[in-house]
Amino acid sequence: MMNKVDIGETKLWVQDQGTGPVLLLVHGFPLDHSMWNVQIEKLSGRFRVVAPDLRGFGGSDVSEPKVTMEQFADDLARLLDALDIRTPVHFCGLSMGGYIAWQFFRKHATRLASLILCDTRAGGDTVAMARARHMMVGRVLRENMEFVAESMLPKLFAEITWRHQPEIVEAIRRTILKADRRGVAAAQLGMAERTDETGLLEHIDKPTLVICGTEDQISPPEEMRSMASAIPLARYIEIPLAGHMAPLENPDTVNEAILEYVI
Ligand code: MLT
Repeated sequence: MMNKVDIGETKLWVQDQGTGPVLLLVHGFPLDHSMWNVQIEKLSGRFRVVAPDLRGFGGSDVSEPKVTMEQFADDLARLLDALDIRTPVHFCGLSMGGYIAWQFFRKHATRLASLILCDTRAGGDTVAMARARHMMVGRVLRENMEFVAESMLPKLFAEITWRHQPEIVEAIRRTILKADRRGVAAAQLGMAERTDETGLLEHIDKPTLVICGTEDQISPPEEMRSMASAIPLARYIEIPLAGHMAPLENPDTVNEAILEYVI
């Protein structure tokens, strides 16, 4: 059930598994759909799980030099068209997948049944953050993905994951190392120019589940709790024994939350 789908402007790899309401799983940076492997396996009994590789990642085609969060959101709407999915979907995005969710809500709200926002942020980048992204772009285009893996991995996982589930860290390291450098650079430039979406939160009129690993260093619990409190229909849940990659680090708790929340 892995297909390369022509969405008009480009082609995206997508894993499409199960039947039922559509659960669209949108991966973080610089990863691919495989970060959702446990969700695909366990949730496809209840949902039609659609897990694409975003433009420039995994098996999808690469566009240069930049892909904005809005372009990613439009790609996803085109993907739903190409898969003939007309009913509203449950959009579940992690981190960069959440940045894309804001744009999907802005442009394609009628296609949304609910939002599930995992380990993500509504704020834009500070000047220092945007500068760090530009530095990564310069370096990633000159060198290889090694330094990206080395700089990102320490921030992605809870300490207990490093100790007790090193295989998860290794799987994510492998995904990062095989990412296309041009795709990584393009998404990084898109993230650097994204805007602060805090003002959008009070307008989100969809049921929203906000999920945060208790040890998330990139989108920490205080920040996500306050983000959730600004969204009228949001419910907030913290995932123990997990950092930024909560759906991988503690998949059972995340899956239970999704199953309980999404009807
Ligand atoms: C992600 O996990 O997608 C990244 O941490 C997002 C970011 O770089 O802001």
